[in-house]
Amino acid sequence: MVSQSKIDQAARLLHPAKHPSALTGAGVSKESGIPTFRDALDGLWARFNPQELATPFAFLQNPKLVWDFYEYRRQLMRPAKPNPGHRALAELERIFGGLPIITQNIDALHEDAGSAQVIALHGKIAVNKCFYNCQGDPTPVDVSKIAYDQNDGPPPCPHCGRKMVRPAVVWFGEMLPPAALAAARAVLHTTDVMLVIGTSGIVQPAASMPLLAQDSGAALIEVNPYESELTDRVDLWLDGPSGEVLPRLVAAVKKLRGNAG
Ligand code: APR
Repeated sequence: MVSQSKIDQAARLLHPAKHPSALTGAGVSKESGIPTFRDALDGLWARFNPQELATPFAFLQNPKLVWDFYEYRRQLMRPAKPNPGHRALAELERIFGGLPIITQNIDALHEDAGSAQVIALHGKIAVNKCFYNCQGDPTPVDVSKIAYDQNDGPPPCPHCGRKMVRPAVVWFGEMLPPAALAAARAVLHTTDVMLVIGTSGIVQPAASMPLLAQDSGAALIEVNPYESELTDRVDLWLDGPSGEVLPRLVAAVKKLRGNAG
């Protein structure tokens, strides 16, 4: 359990921030029951390496396998609800009058928790698009409006007819959506305190974002029960689960704000 003195120290760093922000990864959704990307897959998918399925090459080679994998992940994510960590971030946004969240997560749980400034770097799993972006980048496809055989791989694109509809998420080897990247860069230039939550700090370009913010003068507070690639670089590491640590941080900030009148 993270000591109260460390939580208070983090609150003192955060409290004076004019432009607080957060970078989140799979860890923040762990307590909502969504396995992190690097957790072993279970059941039918145990023999697959998710990093080998989440690529355009894998989809081209075997569209049905990759589509089925994402259907499985959608089933895992569909019942998930925001946890106290997501809700604490939404509350910090209200307290500070803004708190952009740059997230690598595709589950949309920050939005569900009420955060208004979410930059979804890797897209959203609930959205689909044509693999070929036949009507321009992106070409969204509403699969609920398509009649197709669920056991026969991806549905056909309603525009070009090719059975290559795919989730609108960023796969390994793909570019990030330019608008999301630009929005994230703007945050990195202005933020004065960044919370780095539940990310292993391995996957670029998200992994280097806290360091860019730091170069621009931001203080970094990490929330992660385990050491990450970023831990050595942060100003303060709160080594506990975000669902427990973030609500305590909110309480400590509120106390300071109360005292400050
Ligand atoms: N609270 C906070 N952090 C946690 C918790 C928790 N309860 N449980 C685990 N973590 C931490 C782990 O210690 C790890 O550092 O969350 C991190 C999850 O790491 P990854 O699975 O690598 O997730 P992430 O950093 O988001 O991965 C980045 O890579 O696989 C791609 O596109 C995928 O968005 C993903 C990206």
